[in-house]
Amino acid sequence: MLEINLTPFPVLKSDRFTLRRVTRDDVPGIYNMRSNPEVMRFIPRPLSQTPADAEAVFNMMDEKIEQNAGLNWAIALREQPESFLGVIGIFRIDFDNYRGELGYMLLPEHWNKGVVSELIPIILQFGFKTLNLHSIEAIIDPGNHASRRVLEKSGFRQEAYFRENCFWDGQFLDAVVFSVLEKDLF
Ligand SMILES: CC(C)(COP(=O)(O)OP(=O)(O)OC[C@H]1O[C@@H](n2cnc3c(N)ncnc32)[C@H](O)[C@@H]1OP(=O)(O)O)[C@@H](O)C(=O)NCCC(=O)NCCS
Repeated sequence: MLEINLTPFPVLKSDRFTLRRVTRDDVPGIYNMRSNPEVMRFIPRPLSQTPADAEAVFNMMDEKIEQNAGLNWAIALREQPESFLGVIGIFRIDFDNYRGELGYMLLPEHWNKGVVSELIPIILQFGFKTLNLHSIEAIIDPGNHASRRVLEKSGFRQEAYFRENCFWDGQFLDAVVFSVLEKDLF
């Protein structure tokens, strides 16, 4: 079975960004994202109603790192590591099958500037070569065209389309599963 060790926490860098550990100072940024219906439009999770809700999200992220169960990074400008643009991570890991799940979310002012497209290759390199994952999946709402586009640009392929498999907010939602294998890239 796969085991991972997230201590010391892996700080990664791309041309424009630093991926660092999420800290309690990021709670206002997390709140701005998670309380914004536009950001959460395709994410079947509750909107944060208060900063305390966002703090609970931070605590969950932090515990996952402490437990070596999965990780989210805060996205910061490369030269301003305390800045906060959003989060990206391999936030869920199926250890038996060496498979990780990729997720990402940005504050709207940073959309469509190539942020996530620049970061996915760095995360895939880390996921396959450092964490030793065999495959990485991403699950999206079929209407989330920006998310589909970044995945396809990064080498993910559509692998499944689940019809109405997710009951959220009184509706049954479809889900599209994308994946990439290590051997697709390296
Ligand atoms: C999805 C998200 C992370 C994308 O990140 P990003 O850094 O803005 O993405 P990029 O700028 O790297 O690339 C976006 C691509 O989608 C395209 N795109 C954006 N909106 C689109 C739309 N409505 N229809 C079709 N393509 C669209 C852009 O043109 C770009 O493609 P291009 O490089 O070929 O021009 C961002 O939109 C976001 O945070 N959304 C809210 C949270 C969310 O939905 N997260 C994903 C959950 S699965």
